Amino acid sequence: MMESLPQVFTRETLPSQVKVYEVSARDGLQAESVTLPAEVRVELISRLASSGLRTIEAGSFVSPKAVPQMADTQVVLDALNLDSAVSYPVLTPNRRGLDDAQAAGAKDIAVFVSVTESFSRANLGDSLEVTTARNLDVATAATSAGMQVRGYLSMVFGDPWEGPVDPQRVVTASARLLDAGCSSISLGDTIGTATPGHVAAVLQALIESGIPAESIALHTHNTYGQALANVYAALQLGVSEFDASAGGVGGCPFAGSATGNLATEDLVWMLDGLGISTGVDIRAVAETSQWLSRQLGKPLASATSAAIVTQ
Ligand code: HMG
Ligand code: MG
Repeated sequence: MMESLPQVFTRETLPSQVKVYEVSARDGLQAESVTLPAEVRVELISRLASSGLRTIEAGSFVSPKAVPQMADTQVVLDALNLDSAVSYPVLTPNRRGLDDAQAAGAKDIAVFVSVTESFSRANLGDSLEVTTARNLDVATAATSAGMQVRGYLSMVFGDPWEGPVDPQRVVTASARLLDAGCSSISLGDTIGTATPGHVAAVLQALIESGIPAESIALHTHNTYGQALANVYAALQLGVSEFDASAGGVGGCPFAGSATGNLATEDLVWMLDGLGISTGVDIRAVAETSQWLSRQLGKPLASATSAAIVTQ
């Protein structure tokens, strides 16, 4: 018989609580060929909030020519209660993005830089040094204005153009983001090539350099089916914040080999089974994924969602 909740077997050495950082309305939708109108994005975000998610990325203040799926993010923010217990971070690639986010009432932003030269140019249109300096400047300005800032790093575990990435580059980039005021660093496995030993090695390099596990989040893409195993490796090293997208929707328009993020339901199923609290109602997320699948006109990738909803 299929179940909508797993049996619980705890592991004492793992964190007792995890923050699920929901990215379907941004990382998910930015890679879809169908552009959903702002009101549908608002409904997605509202459904996700009703399922217990407390951090839901709401969009991006980037060039609508570069990412048309994220146009009208200010309309999305207008429709949300930005004073509620849910935080709705938005991506800001430059000062203009920060100004627009502030004008729309955003309290949480995310800056995003690559640890590789090729992806800096593909994603942000300039060199690693220029785009990093620009993002550090945004992070400093935003923290001075009292905003909470997350720092994303892309291509942490490999780059489709450059190949392997030295973990020390990740250490240096993380330290720069934290020094600029970022409250956390999200390690992006943009193309999903990481495996658990690789995740552990990068985390160990960060922790040994003095960056605490509490400041680190893991952002997985499930291209090679390794995302959950990678989360488990990170849990073992004390990481307790994980990015995920409902239904596993997503990818990256500037890295063709990236598929969707780890599905939120698949993550929560594992965490529920480990007795790790998230506050997320897995059935409600699965129902939202099925709804999103209808909006996008295609099946989504979450095994857990398919198992729960067909019962
Ligand atoms: P650029 O061409 O180098 O900059 O773009 P520009 O200053 O020459 O501006 C070009 C055009 O964009 C101009 O418009 C600007 O006005 C406009 P035009 O004159 O051509 O009509 N513009 C803007 N419009 C709205 N909001 C802004 C803004 N800034 C400039 N803030 C830029 C540089 C970064 C703006 C551009 O390349 C861009 O927007 N790129 C999109 C980047 C993006 O959203 N990528 C996806 C998110 S990152 C990701 O998915 C990875 C992550 O998930 C982690 C992981 O998995 O690794 C986070
Ligand atoms: Mg991503």
